[in-house]
Amino acid sequence: MKELIVKLLSSELSDTVTEQEIERLLEIPPNEEMGDFAFPCFSLAKKLRKNPLIIAEELSGKLPLPKELQRITAVSGYLNFYIDKSFLAERVIAEALSPEYGQKKMGQRIVIEFASPNTNKPLHLGHLRNMAIGESVARILSFCGNQVVRTSINNDRGVHICKSMLAYTLSGEGKTPEEAQKKSDHFVGDYYVLFSKKAAEDESWNKGAQELLRKWEAGDEQTVKLWKQMNSWALDGFRQTYSLFGIRFDKEYYESQIYTSGKEIIQEGLKRNIFCRRDDGAVIVNLEEEKLGEKVLLRSDGTSVYIVQDLYLAILKDKEYHYDRSFYVVGNEQDYHFAVLIAIFRKLGYPIAEKMKHLSYGMVELPEGKMKSREGTVVDADDLISETQSLAVEELKQRYTLNKEEMQDRSLKIALSAIKYQLLKIDIAKTMLFDPKKAISFEGDTGPYLLYSYARAASILRKAGAPESTSSYTLNDTETRLIKKLAFFPDSVQYASDKLSPSVIANYAFELAQCFNEFYHSSQVIGSQSEAFRLTLVKAFQLVLGTCLKLLGIESIEEM
Ligand code: ARG
Repeated sequence: MKELIVKLLSSELSDTVTEQEIERLLEIPPNEEMGDFAFPCFSLAKKLRKNPLIIAEELSGKLPLPKELQRITAVSGYLNFYIDKSFLAERVIAEALSPEYGQKKMGQRIVIEFASPNTNKPLHLGHLRNMAIGESVARILSFCGNQVVRTSINNDRGVHICKSMLAYTLSGEGKTPEEAQKKSDHFVGDYYVLFSKKAAEDESWNKGAQELLRKWEAGDEQTVKLWKQMNSWALDGFRQTYSLFGIRFDKEYYESQIYTSGKEIIQEGLKRNIFCRRDDGAVIVNLEEEKLGEKVLLRSDGTSVYIVQDLYLAILKDKEYHYDRSFYVVGNEQDYHFAVLIAIFRKLGYPIAEKMKHLSYGMVELPEGKMKSREGTVVDADDLISETQSLAVEELKQRYTLNKEEMQDRSLKIALSAIKYQLLKIDIAKTMLFDPKKAISFEGDTGPYLLYSYARAASILRKAGAPESTSSYTLNDTETRLIKKLAFFPDSVQYASDKLSPSVIANYAFELAQCFNEFYHSSQVIGSQSEAFRLTLVKAFQLVLGTCLKLLGIESIEEM
């Protein structure tokens, strides 16, 4: 509709302003009496050497009235456009009923990396934000017609895992997670915690971990065997959490399999004098010009630092997937790391430098005093899901009597909607507060509220019979607002994809649900004179909200 108005104005004003300028100037008036779109004529006054009031008057007389518009008026220097409501309703609802509504045809190959845990301890709340963002961005990009590959790298080698291994060797008594009746990644994490305690009291523990790392690098059989065992426990546990959370990867990489290959790129850089050797023997890259300082790539003892794996991995992904874009969902504490990584590729003249992007997200904090984990610092992902699920059970018990299975299934879906929505509604760059009590509420800006609205629409549609068709019809205000909101969906998708921002969809979905609930409270659907029309409106709403939920990685439910 906006496009139509831009074209219309441009037909009269092409000598004075560009279409882009017209689009930029078009406003949505604060209330409906002032029309659906308004065009301010003030900035034209100078160029046309006319009073803006007169410009508006003249334009309103000259512009033709297409069938999509009901009228165009001039008021105090503004041109107000009134959309023909029944035309709008018919067109928007017809479009919204198609499963393709809002889809795009971008056609890029996109690799997105998320989760990427270290294998020494279980996933925590930060990983949940990471996974919610990664999955949602992946879904938005596929919805826009891109081919998306989901990847993760398991940082499965290094001193961190040796710490858990050492603690297990010294006090694990050869137990298995089954014997200890523990989820296997938590089992591994417990030894990491034990290590931290012991090392704080006794320095020799740190030396022990270093020693174990040397043995691992030398391929010592016993060490490698234990390493495999503990890694498989950690990874098994992660996979359970991934599946509970509803995510999966097309490709998982392992640091242990790639970490040595990055050294070839270091050699190339040295040969081409892009990197250099420092007096102490370390290999460095000078990034002063990029204001990133001097970065060590190989230590003087020849061991490589974290970034070397990423030099190789970025190239490997390109070899395997020939990507147009490659995204990394990683916390903002690694902003410097990714700035350096991209700067190095630029220096080396690799085209992938312009294709890579760090989707940097902020930390998640909890309200004071809530749900401290065993370590007392981070909140465990599995614990958080199950505690939120208990809150959902409480909410459900107050409303319905459900059998055990139904209760389990529904409360989990509600809990996940609560967590995901809460984590996604905030702009990814921002630090955020996660309050489980707020997140689980059935009212307000929450995931359960969206599920509730969806289920309400589903219930209306279930109850409806075959109504007589509604003939010529004047829309009421709440219907108009709901339809206008539906009309905005394709723009929201475009914006979310341009900005790589799930919060755009989350906020849109909430506003859409609000419009629906206002409509539902003021307008009887079943048994009303306009039942047929209203039912198609409910159906259109249900489909669009359902799509939003999918884009957020949230599973909808037919009954709340
Ligand atoms: N495992 C790392 C960590 O937990 C994150 C890895 C991010 N991905 C990457 N390609 N560097 O801090």
